[in-house]
Amino acid sequence: MKTLISFMIALSVWAQGPRREFTPGEVWLDTAGQPIQAHSAGILLHRGVYYWYGEDKTLGNFNRTGISVYSSKDLYNWKREGVALPKDSVPAQFRETGVCERAKVLYNARTKKFVMWMHLDDKPYAVASAGVAVADQATGPFRFVGYSRPVRFDFGYPEKDRTNQRELGNTYRDMNLFLDTDGKAYAFYASEDNWTMYIVRLNAEFTGPEMPQVEGKTWARILVKQMREAPAPFKHNGKYFLITSGCTGWKPNRAGYAVATNILGPWTEKGDPSVGAEAETTFRSQSTFVLPMPGRPGKFIFLADRWNEKQLEDSRYVWLPFEVGPGDTIELKWVDRWQLP
Ligand code: GAL
Repeated sequence: MKTLISFMIALSVWAQGPRREFTPGEVWLDTAGQPIQAHSAGILLHRGVYYWYGEDKTLGNFNRTGISVYSSKDLYNWKREGVALPKDSVPAQFRETGVCERAKVLYNARTKKFVMWMHLDDKPYAVASAGVAVADQATGPFRFVGYSRPVRFDFGYPEKDRTNQRELGNTYRDMNLFLDTDGKAYAFYASEDNWTMYIVRLNAEFTGPEMPQVEGKTWARILVKQMREAPAPFKHNGKYFLITSGCTGWKPNRAGYAVATNILGPWTEKGDPSVGAEAETTFRSQSTFVLPMPGRPGKFIFLADRWNEKQLEDSRYVWLPFEVGPGDTIELKWVDRWQLP
């Protein structure tokens, strides 16, 4: 029966032909006709192939499956390549009802390794640490290296702190990675229990922070006490851009963006990039990544998650095109369906 069903699905996918457009908010099927399970997407372009990493929430919330990976040459049609970081490859407290979220992958040209960073946590979100895993191939399997809090810096630790930052270092939650044009890599993440965003330059292997750490030189606190998360950085014309969301769990909120000439700041806040209906909830979604459009300098794709809190496995993907306009401004607008230019 199961084989028959898969055969029927494959037949209908084949009959529909390849996908040729983006339909934000609808169910997106992979090339085998199954809904794509890769939430909090991160995309790596490697040798002409796009790899989409994300949380596989087939079994609902928490790390019950792991980080999946899909591949595509055209960004429309995605082939499931399997689970790149199976849940069992991380320590027990981060599996099942533990958290392994917002994984992102960079390729390190020097070591020829694929390096994955992720937010690891326990159910109450108190461990709040960075996990690192390494692979020889983009599709994995990734080998877990370890977890830590990359920065320990006294920002005025609170008296009562369930995350123990004074002892363990400053928290690490919603994150992204960014590879700069000079080959240096950075982690962007919500720290100080989500109050302040950190940008930390990575070491040559991309497996940890650059040492010794010097604030303003190797790492920076930005959007101080703004409570932003879901960072999505990108670069255009020598300037750095960062789109973030507010911190309201699975509920959507207003996005914001900031611009900088130097990646470690100062960053200038530019307000909400979304315009039109439902701008106040980022079109019912939360940022996760910005992907430069292939061969189109100045054009980008905003990738976001439309979380379905009651049924997280049915959370949808919202990808919208945008460009950087005069004065380093960006506008995110809703479109029902669109194609690459
Ligand atoms: C959001 C975060 C998601 C997930 C969720 C859990 O704030 O962006 O990645 O952690 O909270 O409630």
